Amino acid sequence: MSYQVIIKPSNHTFTIETGESILQAALRQGISLPYGCRNGSCGACKGKILQGHVDYGRHDEETLTEQEKQNGFALFCCASALSENLVIECHEIDTLKDIKIRTMPCRVHKLERVAPDVMVIYLKLPTNERLQFLPGQYIDILLKDSKRRSFSLANAPQDDEFLQLHARNYPGGVFSEHVFTRMKEKDILRIEGPLGSFYLREALSDETKLIFLASGTGFAPIKSILEHIFSTLSSHENHRKLLLYWGVRVKADLYLNDLVEQWANTYKNFSYIPVLSDALPTDQWTGRAGLVHQAVSEDIPDLASYQVYACGSPLMVKAAYQDFTQLRNLPTAQFFSDAFIPSDNQTP
Ligand code: FES
Repeated sequence: MSYQVIIKPSNHTFTIETGESILQAALRQGISLPYGCRNGSCGACKGKILQGHVDYGRHDEETLTEQEKQNGFALFCCASALSENLVIECHEIDTLKDIKIRTMPCRVHKLERVAPDVMVIYLKLPTNERLQFLPGQYIDILLKDSKRRSFSLANAPQDDEFLQLHARNYPGGVFSEHVFTRMKEKDILRIEGPLGSFYLREALSDETKLIFLASGTGFAPIKSILEHIFSTLSSHENHRKLLLYWGVRVKADLYLNDLVEQWANTYKNFSYIPVLSDALPTDQWTGRAGLVHQAVSEDIPDLASYQVYACGSPLMVKAAYQDFTQLRNLPTAQFFSDAFIPSDNQTP
């Protein structure tokens, strides 16, 4: 059974299934409510029940006292709906200033080599800790001697049991060499985040189409944004056109190609255009070739009704910005980017 929940003062609404927590239901439908631990310990998700009844769920008694319950408060990460027409009061997270930047330890949970020079790192935060972030943001791994190394978060915010990073093995990159040769499961790291202002913005209208432009591991934050959008599709009836152009050198660099093809088969409004710049004869590539931003320009002569999210090498991001805004009518305010600058002099 599903019920409707109204949030005050915004009047945003979402549906909640039996047994689902209020927080889980809101995140699933693209509504960001504040949270920390997601298990009833920290109190970051505390809000008021203005109307209706809830099951308070399992939580720390000190985090939500009996007195607070009587005063109408609940922890939204644990509370589930017991009646229809639930009305809650809380502050919604919709801009960067609402998100707290934190420094915390984490453990390397798993290392997965998905291409000859791409490693997916899964990080586990301490028990009772979760990192709230906007899809597209990044974290810094804090190294010795005050050095740091930035990685985009590749998981969607609602899928946060592990933080997922995509690390490329840059020639001469001391930290990336560490990842590929010495880093191992259970290693302890210190991270700071979330950081950055590359995240999904409000569309100008339902007609606004979105282009995601990635080069190499610039795919990571775009994966986070797309998985976030896909999780809200059915609930928001959101059928805006989504195009992913992923540019790499050779076919093996399309390190999560199967996943993206699966999205293309599942979501009718999503199209995937992989572009290879240096395909090998053994790739037997018959798809698009050349520079990834040029593929967009060739396909879409007028970008006036688009938003573009570009992530990857600084050269690609700069060339895309110039071509799209000067030659293809893209409004400058509708180009969002995150350029990856390899750090090759950092020590682990
Ligand atoms: S108590 Fe920590 S997020 Fe709910």
